[in-house]
Amino acid sequence: MDIRNVLVADAVDEACVALLQRHSIQVDCKYKLSKEQLIQAIQNYDAIVVRSDTKVGAEVIQAGSRLKAIGRAGAGVDNIDVNAATARDVVVLNTPGGNAISACELTCALIANLARNVAAASASLKAGRWDRKLYAGRELSGKTLAIIGLGRIGKEVALRMQAWGMTTIGFDPIVTPQEAQQFNVQYLELDALWRRADYITVHTPLIPATRNLINAQVLGSCKKGVKVINVARGGIVNEGDLLAALKSGQCGGAAIDVYEQEPPTNPVTLELIAHDKVVATPHLGASTAEAQVRVAVEVAEQLIALTGRSPEYKSTSGV
Ligand code: NAD
Ligand code: MLT
Repeated sequence: MDIRNVLVADAVDEACVALLQRHSIQVDCKYKLSKEQLIQAIQNYDAIVVRSDTKVGAEVIQAGSRLKAIGRAGAGVDNIDVNAATARDVVVLNTPGGNAISACELTCALIANLARNVAAASASLKAGRWDRKLYAGRELSGKTLAIIGLGRIGKEVALRMQAWGMTTIGFDPIVTPQEAQQFNVQYLELDALWRRADYITVHTPLIPATRNLINAQVLGSCKKGVKVINVARGGIVNEGDLLAALKSGQCGGAAIDVYEQEPPTNPVTLELIAHDKVVATPHLGASTAEAQVRVAVEVAEQLIALTGRSPEYKSTSGV
């Protein structure tokens, strides 16, 4: 495939640019383009590289008369219209493994945070208060963690939280109970799983079957005080239903990294983020030095491979 130049439209690690250039591919970095600007710019490039900010929709793809490949430096391709790309024979590449450990580690940090009120207690102390009683927590040891989606991230979360003494149960339509047992996850159908969970963490793509998967009915069938973690995609947990469950006390806390709209502006999401029992981060799951170098290199390697050459990456940063 003839890829001579690439538009990098979101801030990916410079390792991507360096590797492409070393293989004689011209790179232009143009960030925060409006849809109209992107439609204009895309006409001049053989490939585009994005993270999650830039939306590569049907109109953008149709405008890309030379476009041959769309590289996603990350896992989810929900910001790319894959059907429109396929219809035009444009290859869509992603780097699903590169940031899995980082997303897993943020999930584990958020679970521990929910158990011990770290963020809220720290904010309170910084504001001059000494509220030891208010922020007393619960041990994770002996509690049950339900993991929805036992793929790359879900499995790694299970292994780490088992080391904290949690019992791990889970569900995934393409994983068998025997496979789940190999990493010490008890496989349960969803109805049985909700009733057992002290914590629920979701690690699925956002697809029609997972949109609003955690909703009012599900939260109502959980134990009172259940805690919910979403480091996967906004929309898997219904934000309005979660807020209502937090207000009623049915949900005892939530940790959220991803939102139905990013950056969030709608009033329900903003109220959710502001809730006392919520720990919220701005889509930081993949935001580590290691993951960003990995996904940057992987996306560049795949684009170079499309040209028929073997990419060679040499780390200069130690990552
Ligand atoms: P993966 O493809 O390895 O695993 C996802 C799993 O979800 C698969 O095993 C799949 O069978 C399962 N699944 C699909 N539909 C399901 C359903 N209805 N119920 C239960 N399970 C279902 O993906 P991954 O790399 O583990 O990523 C998981 C999610 O995390 C994705 O949405 C990805 O975009 C997101 N992610 C977020 C960040 C972040 O910055 N917050 C970083 C990396 C990945
Ligand atoms: C992903 O899907 O890889 C993540 O959401 C991280 C990102 O957008 O960079």
